[in-house]
Parts: sequence; structure tokens; C-alpha cells
Amino acid sequence: MCGIVGYVGTRDALPLLLSGLQRLEYRGYDSTGLAVCSADTMRVVRSEGKLQQLQSKINPTDFVGHTGVGHTRWATHGKPSDQNAHPHCSEHIAIVHNGIIENYHTLRNEIESDGYQCVSETDSEIIAHLILKTLRDGAQTLSLALRGVLPKLEGSYAIVLLSEREPERIVAATNGSPLVIGKGKNEMFLASDVTAFLSETNHVVYLEAGDVVTLEQDSIDVVNHDGMPVSKSSSEITWNITQAEKQGFRHFMLKEIYEQPQVLSDTLSGRIDAANAHVVLDEISIDPALQKLSLIACGTSFHAALIGRFLFEQLARISSSCELASEFRYRNPVIGTDELTVVISQSGETADTMIAAQEAKRLGSKILAISNVIDSSLPRFSDHVLYTRAGPEISVASTKAFTTQLVTLALLAIHIGVQKNTIDDTTRSHLIDELMMLPTKMADSIRSSECLQDIIVHYENARGFIFLGRGNLYPIALEGALKLKETSYLHAEGYPAGEMKHGPIAMIDKDFPVIALAPQGVLYPKMKTNIAEVKSRGARVIAIATEGDKEITSLVDDVVFLPDIHPLFLPVLASVPMQLFAYYVADRKGTDIDQPRNLAKSVTVE
Ligand code: M6R
Repeated sequence: MCGIVGYVGTRDALPLLLSGLQRLEYRGYDSTGLAVCSADTMRVVRSEGKLQQLQSKINPTDFVGHTGVGHTRWATHGKPSDQNAHPHCSEHIAIVHNGIIENYHTLRNEIESDGYQCVSETDSEIIAHLILKTLRDGAQTLSLALRGVLPKLEGSYAIVLLSEREPERIVAATNGSPLVIGKGKNEMFLASDVTAFLSETNHVVYLEAGDVVTLEQDSIDVVNHDGMPVSKSSSEITWNITQAEKQGFRHFMLKEIYEQPQVLSDTLSGRIDAANAHVVLDEISIDPALQKLSLIACGTSFHAALIGRFLFEQLARISSSCELASEFRYRNPVIGTDELTVVISQSGETADTMIAAQEAKRLGSKILAISNVIDSSLPRFSDHVLYTRAGPEISVASTKAFTTQLVTLALLAIHIGVQKNTIDDTTRSHLIDELMMLPTKMADSIRSSECLQDIIVHYENARGFIFLGRGNLYPIALEGALKLKETSYLHAEGYPAGEMKHGPIAMIDKDFPVIALAPQGVLYPKMKTNIAEVKSRGARVIAIATEGDKEITSLVDDVVFLPDIHPLFLPVLASVPMQLFAYYVADRKGTDIDQPRNLAKSVTVE
């Protein structure tokens, strides 16, 4: 949610912190701040708003030092303001914090009764005061002080602290909020996300819950809360920073939409044995006794889960249920030992999703993660992992991560179906052929959806939008509405078309347009009836239809044609007009497309 970047080394910390913050801004962008320290001096600056506002406050000659920490915030406790921005200070201590300290009211009362004055509304500031107090009470080092404070904190955190009294090091701890070390030559980075320092080093060490680390320019010292050494291995990141840059596109969202043909092919690469028409998922092993699947996720990933249910039920004839991660944990779920929990998360860091996965594991289920970010928290925690291989997704509105999730789910469903003998050879071979056509047909879908750029001018005065779909396109209707809400701040709803007449149809008039997912197939006649119902109430309708469907043009106002594909894979192609519609509307409105207000890319708080 919020972003952290820290540096200790031989170079000036300030430019490295600023470029790290720039790359992390997608995580949270309502306020930013940084601290740089050298012997006996610490300079701290904070600002409401985006990084540019912070930069305008900085005179680089004032921020000299080889050690520092920066933070970009997504407000939870206290509004976005200079005062609530991190770092928070207490005398010579500066800290940044991601996560939520749940018992902060109690701790704040305690620390204030000890004479420490909180100047912000945040739950984070108390950590700085508690550390100072622990030092004053006799802790000899920053690390010991931090370890003294951690047992008092309830909730999730990644905390990084520094002090002008120990300017040669930064100290950090994590519990439920990610932190990763970047190892350079005579320098170390520490961040909530590798993108913050990937332009400097690709050698990384991931920290786990309970780790307390002291970083100096040439050493990494990790201990647990009791001070016992924890051994860590390092790994190498294989993607590079140019993959996370805009490369000529006006927005990351647009770039990521256009990357889909390539990333779908990456998702499939090595996972299909074309000669024998087989799916090859050597990464995982599924128990042949598997009887039930639970799919858990949030937001767009939840929409992928809904589509996954269709795939698993139809191809593997396996009973499947879907649940929002934020609901799962609190309903005392019943999980059988013959059940597999498939947890889907682009970032692999979503707090609700992580907690739901932990709960499912506690109840005895094996966890299969579908994630995009290699070695993020969820894959590291899970029993099996399938990576979606979408490459870094920077835009807050998820696009390519979603369609690669769908393809990964399709591969998994075929894999389980073959294992369970629910797919005959002819069907399997047809499915594989169709899967292999997806990258090319994705490129066609993008080309044909570009007409939406002109179409949207007819929809400028809409009070709101309703997206209608049936079967496995109902989740695409949900996704279309979510994309539009996120990027344009417009009211939009996704609805199963058959439910329209049970209430929402009351909203329909000429200023309440409908986007109808109406490809040819078994549900086509039903969709045509739904279209007629809204047309007769004055709605303007855009249909997403099958290439070559001549009839549909006479029934609706505007049409986007999609190439024909196996109906189980149609959601992949039908995502494109949803994404481009949202993008074009937002672009015309002039919203901040890649960083929509109030949102953050990875939601690491509950
Ligand atoms: O990283 P995750 O897939 O776990 O994220 C889940 C949601 O926060 C995410 O999909 C969100 O809904 C997107 N911004 C949608 O575009």
C-alpha cells in the first residue's frame, strides 16, 4: 500500500531515495517524505500530495548524507497532510511504517502519559516515540531498541528506522508487510518492492515476518525478536527496469493493455506440449484425490476466480466455490482435507488475500497461489505456485495481470481435467489449439476495440453505466464496471443480464447506457431479449459481439466485434473492450489514469 525505500552506502542517498520513491509512487501517492542522515545531522522533509510537491521543498545541498529512508503514503489513520506524512520523528529518531498498528490508541495514551507528544494523527508516529523511550531506558543500539518495541505492537508492519547517532546503518523489522533488501557493491537498499532499486541492483534478500535487520554498506545482519541469528539466502531478479517503464505509451495502463498478446504467449510458453496436445505444469503436483476447489481473491483477481470456477467445473468436473478474501476469514469456513485452496493475487501482497490463505492453511487445506510477482509473500507462503508471467504491472487498474490469470486458470483446469479423466482426447486437442490462438486473437481484439475511442463521445453525458453479461461473461461485466469506476470515478455496475428485470432496470433511461456482452452461443438469444428490454426503455447500447454477427448491428447503437474463440476462453478476449472503454473514457475526462485517487496498487492493509 504505502511504499518504503531505504539506502545505506557510499553514494549520496537523496537522489537514490527520490528515484526509488518515483518508482514506488504507484503504491500510494497521497503524501511523501524522506530523511537523510549523516553524523549528528538528520534532515527530514514531508509533503502532502505527489512526489513533485516533495521535490519542490527540497534544496539538495541541505540533504547531504549516505544513509536515508523515503516513504510514499496511502492514508489509513489521519488524512493526507504534511504532518501525517512519514518519516515520523522523535528527537534523533526517524521511522517510516507500512501497515496498521491496531492497538495504537492504547500505545498512544501510554506514550503521551510518559511525556511524549504526538503531533500527527497516525498510528505510526508512536513507534518513533516508543523507540526513543526504549533507548532512553537503556537499550544500547537501534536494533535492540526496535526489538524492545516490537512485542508491544499489534497488527502488521514494515518499519525502517534511522538515527543521526548511528548514521552508518538502517534498521528494520517486518511482520505482514513486505520488505526486500537489495545488495549492491558497498551499498544496501531496502524497500517494500524491488522496483524501488532494480535500476541499481538485482541481487535481493527477502525478509520474513519476525525478521529484524541491521543494514550497513557491506553487511546484512538478520536476527529474530530474541536476537538469534536468522540465515538468509539471496536471489536474482530476472526482469529489468525497462519492462516497468512507459516505452512511449501515454500511460502504463495503455502500455499494459497492448502488452497482452506478448504476455499471454509468455504465460503459455513451455506449458503446452503442442505435438501431443498436452498441458505441462511441472511446477505443481495436484493430489489425484482432490474433490473440491475454493478460489479466494480480491478485486480484479476475484473476477478471475469467478471465471476459474467455470473452467474447473466444466473441464475438471470439480466442485468449486469462490469467495472474496476479505469475507472468507470471518465466516468460520469449513474446509475438507480433500480440498485445494487456489489463492489469486497479482501482487502476492494483498493483506486480505494473505490472511485468507493463512486461515485456509490453518484449517488444513493446501494452498496453490496464482501470482504475478515472483517470490512475493503469497507464493513464498503457498504449497504450490503458478506464476502468471505478465511482467511488472504498474497501472493501478489491473489489465494484463487479469488476462494472464485467466489463461493460467485455464491451463490448471485442463491439467486437473486430464488428471481426473474428464476431458476426452478430441476436446483436449481442440482446447489446446484454441489456447495457442489466444495471443494472436488478443491482438485482433485490441485492434477491433480501438473503435471505442470514437464511440465514447456518444456516452459523455451518461449518469452511470451498466455492464451486462451472462455465464462466464458476467464476471467480465463486473470487471468492466470496476475498471470504469477505478479510472473515471463514474458510477458503473456489473450485472448478470437475467437479473436486470429484478431491479436495476428501473435505472435505465436514455442517460444510463448499457454495455452488453453478447457473443453468439447458447446464451445469445437471452442476451438479445435483455438488449431489447433496455432499448425499449431508451438506453443507448454498446454490444460486444462475435465477428461476423450481422444481426446485432440492427439491435444496438454501437458494436465492438471480437474474434471467435472457444466459449471458455472468451472472457480473455472480452476483457479488452472493457479495459479500453475504461481507459478512453478516463483519458477524455482527464483523470489520473495510472494512479486513480484513493487507490493503491497493492493493498497491504486489511
Ligand atoms: O494484487 P491483487 O491481485 O491481490 O490485488 C487485488 C485487488 O486489489 C486488485 O485487483 C484491484 O481490484 C485492482 N486495482 C483492479 O484493477
